[in-house]
Parts: sequence; structure tokens; C-alpha cells
Amino acid sequence: MTTSPQPYEIRPLSEGDVVAQELPTPAPDQDQPRGRRTVAAVSRETVIGFATMTWAAVTEQYFCEVSVATAHRRRGVGTRLFDAVRELADPGFPIVARAMNSAPHRRAFADSLGCSVLVHCPMPRIDPTALSVRDWMARQGVLVGCVIRATAEADGDQLQAAWVSSYLWVHEPFAAVHTERLVEQWTRQRGVFDPQASRACLDEATGQILALSLVALDAWDGHNLLVAETVRRDQPDGDAILAATVAASISELARRGVDRVEFEGHATDAHTPTLFEILPTSGADPMDILELSGRSGEPSRRSAAAGTS
Ligand SMILES: CC(C)(COP(=O)(O)OP(=O)(O)OC[C@H]1O[C@@H](n2cnc3c(N)ncnc32)[C@H](O)[C@@H]1OP(=O)(O)O)[C@@H](O)C(=O)NCCC(=O)NCCS
Repeated sequence: MTTSPQPYEIRPLSEGDVVAQELPTPAPDQDQPRGRRTVAAVSRETVIGFATMTWAAVTEQYFCEVSVATAHRRRGVGTRLFDAVRELADPGFPIVARAMNSAPHRRAFADSLGCSVLVHCPMPRIDPTALSVRDWMARQGVLVGCVIRATAEADGDQLQAAWVSSYLWVHEPFAAVHTERLVEQWTRQRGVFDPQASRACLDEATGQILALSLVALDAWDGHNLLVAETVRRDQPDGDAILAATVAASISELARRGVDRVEFEGHATDAHTPTLFEILPTSGADPMDILELSGRSGEPSRRSAAAGTS
């Protein structure tokens, strides 16, 4: 149901603003020159929509999220919010957003702003407690000469180096990665990975980490995520090594009774596409990472037509 159109102003979000109940809570702004900024659409002293632009230093991209209260949708509020928050972004850097199959309006909105697909993410999910998954795990043998350990037992520096190396080649096809900022990101992120369910596959002879399977339980809104890949893109027997490492994580999750895990991964990865083919999945919510065409600095199609900013 929609209400009759109400006038609204677009302005930076202020501390103490009352946000419409159905909207998520906007994250506070960050002071850094390229931190996080939010602009709000305010009507009758209530925030009826907002757009947040968050700077990702490692890939030099802005992540954009726009939310508009149901009763105010399809009147151009979302487009105006996007145009306003884009003004705060450093032009020349890409603005990206996520669009999942389960939320087709996200894609429709991004299409209306103008967008292109940076990378496709299949996002399968499994139930570690399912019999089919147990059978699958039993078939994933650890290669001779390899050993799989919980990341809790791995050397911290080695783990960091392995994550950095893997992150670099995985993101190379669709983002410009700043290696020198990766260590800082790992330092911030490593705490979210469960140290027992997350596993590392090591070369028994050299102790070198060959693959990682990292598990973040309740990463957001009750979602359990697993991200896995080999440390080197050209890892010999990479498919088998990755499958065995992931099976070890899933086995630990099954032991704990965790019945839903979603896999992150990209169509451009070297080994996760094969893994996703052989996993007994219980569904998927494929997602595209999109580049919104706000990057070039021209107004979006709708604003240009309406003469608004
Ligand atoms: C996506 C969202 C922000 C759109 O806000 P909005 O104020 O309705 O957007 P606009 O009115 O500016 O829509 C612009 C265009 O996007 C497309 N669009 C937006 N919502 C759509 C929908 N539900 N179905 C189909 N097309 C849609 C249309 O082309 C629309 O133009 P039109 O109304 O002239 O046909 C809003 O639906 C929302 O908050 N959804 C939940 C959160 C979300 O998914 N955010 C997107 C992440 S970036």
C-alpha cells in the first residue's frame, strides 16, 4: 500500500534523526576523507530513506546501499538518494553494489541507475547435518603429503601470508587490490573467523599452507558464511585439496549441529566453481557484484530527465 506523495528533503544524516521503523539502522559516518557517509531523505522529521557509501580501501571501491521505506518507493526517492551520496564520493573510483536473485528489485533499481556486472557469485548453501553432505565429506580424502588443521593451531604470520596471497589472486580479475592495505584488513577481519571450524591444509613436509577454508558464524543476521580457496591460483591438485579442506570445516560444523552454511566465491575463482558443482547443495542465492555508473560523474538517467539533484 502507498500513501500520497509527501515533500521531503535530502540532506546528510544527523545524529538523533528518527529513522522510519522498518528501515535498517544506518551505520554512523566515519571522519576519514574516504570513510563512510550517509545521506537521508527526511519527511515530517522522519528519515524515510537513506543511502550509505562505504569506502573499501583495499580495492579502492565504494560500496553503496540505498534503503527506502515501502510506502515511499517508486517515486524517485532512491534515485535522488543515490545521486546525493554519489556527490560525496571521490569521482573516478568505482561505486559497487550487490544484487541477489532473491531480491530482484535491487537489480531493477541498479539497472535504472545504469550498471554493469563486475563478477558473478554463485552463493550455494548446504546443510552440514544432511546425510548427502556426510556422504560427500566421507569421499573427500586428504591427499598424501598433506595435513589439515584448525586455523587455531596455525602460525599467525603464516596464516596472514596465506590469506593475503589467496585474496590477491582471487580479486585480481575484477578489482585493483592494494597489497599494502591487505594486512590491515586481515588484522580487522581475522577475529570473525571461527578458529576451530576454519581449517588450513598444509604441506606436511614444508609446513606451507596450501589452502584455507574460513568460517564466519553469524556473520550477519544469523548467516553462517564459508570462504575457501587455495593460497596459489596454480596449486597442483587444487580442486582435491580445496574439497578436503572444506570438508574438514563442514565436519566440525556438523558436529556442532550447524544446519545452514552459505559459500562465498566468484565465478572467476580457480577452484570454487568445481567445488560448487560437486557439493550436495540445498539451494543457492546467486549474486552479482555490480558497478553502478555513478562513477563517470554524469547524473543518473532519471535525475537528468527530472532535472533534480
Ligand atoms: C531498491 C530501493 C532502494 C528503490 O527505492 P525507490 O525509491 O523505490 O527507487 P526509485 O523510485 O528511485 O526507482 C527508480 C527505478 O528503479 C527501478 N525499480 C525500483 N524498485 C523497483 C521494483 N520494486 N521493481 C521493479 N523496478 C524497480 C524502476 O525502474 C524505477 O523507476 P520507475 O519507478 O520509474 O519504474 C527500494 O526498493 C528499497 O529500499 N529496497 C530495499 C533495499 C534494497 O534492496 N536496496 C538496494 C541496494 S543498493
